[in-house]
Amino acid sequence: MSIEFSHVPVLYEECIKNLNIKPDGIYVDGTLGGAGHAFGIGSRLSEKGLLIGIDRDPDALEAAEENLKSLKCRKKLIQSTYSDINRILEDMGITGIDGALLDIGVSSFQLDNPERGFSYMHDAPLDMRMNRDDSFSAQDVVNEYSQKELARIIKEYGEERWASRIAEFIVKRRKEEGSITTTSQLVDVIKAAIPASARREGPHPAKRTFQAIRIEVNGELEEISNAVDSFCDVLNPGGRLCIITFHSLEDRIVKEAFTRRLNPCTCPPEFPVCVCGKVSDAKKVTGKPIIPSEDELDKNPRSRSAKLRVIEKK
Ligand SMILES: C[S@@+](CC[C@H](N)C(=O)[O-])C[C@H]1O[C@@H](n2cnc3c(N)ncnc32)[C@H](O)[C@@H]1O
Repeated sequence: MSIEFSHVPVLYEECIKNLNIKPDGIYVDGTLGGAGHAFGIGSRLSEKGLLIGIDRDPDALEAAEENLKSLKCRKKLIQSTYSDINRILEDMGITGIDGALLDIGVSSFQLDNPERGFSYMHDAPLDMRMNRDDSFSAQDVVNEYSQKELARIIKEYGEERWASRIAEFIVKRRKEEGSITTTSQLVDVIKAAIPASARREGPHPAKRTFQAIRIEVNGELEEISNAVDSFCDVLNPGGRLCIITFHSLEDRIVKEAFTRRLNPCTCPPEFPVCVCGKVSDAKKVTGKPIIPSEDELDKNPRSRSAKLRVIEKK
């Protein structure tokens, strides 16, 4: 099967520049997708250099393999979650890497492929699994979660002010109709829950709820929290970790993890000198996150909420 990926790599130049790529180095792209960023990394590597690409979606790996065919560097593409980086490197007998990139979230390919059930624009079975071998899908969230749990995830992960009403309407519809199995059924429920006056402006009324359910289905926040330290641990001195997020909760997790890494001291602030002895093994590269230029925003409106943070191992 040939799959066309139209994903435009977000903050592409900024990632490539910040990775400080050494031609003979080992680099990991933990969210390979259609390999837009990975191609840029791989084309800066020599025949000795190694590009490791990870994605939990087998369709993405298939497309990436095709897109990376012409590279001369060594390549290893792996179906896994990026939080498993320690085991992946251990299995390959690798003890240190020279840089890594995480471009968190869904790809345009996943979003635009109606079959995958990520999109509120197409009618499809409610799915949203990044890895279709996983057994837990959006239908489980929407049909099995309590009203309270639904309200919490829609509010927290979707930052949706109508979360409680949407949860109430989902549960009501489940009682009336048995279950909600398609994206359009869910869109209808969301539209019914949000007052018409609030639906007139802003993004599609289902956007926030769909985002929340997707994050829950794929455990996206846990993935990031588990991964930042693991990646920092395996970086060689001078190696950099670049992380692009699209959601304020994700960015907060990355920011806090980087801050802890830069300042690991656990002494109470009133102590005149450090007694815990914890010393940072990382260097700050970006204070404020890097955001897309006006030019990129014009060309790729989906980059609007992207933020890139970079940290370097000492
Ligand atoms: C935004 S896209 C990356 C696009 C890629 N940078 C490019 O240039 O084509 C995110 C990709 O990461 C994958 N992904 C998301 N979370 C993941 C995780 N925890 N582990 C592995 N892959 C993940 C998704 O399946 C998707 O293909």
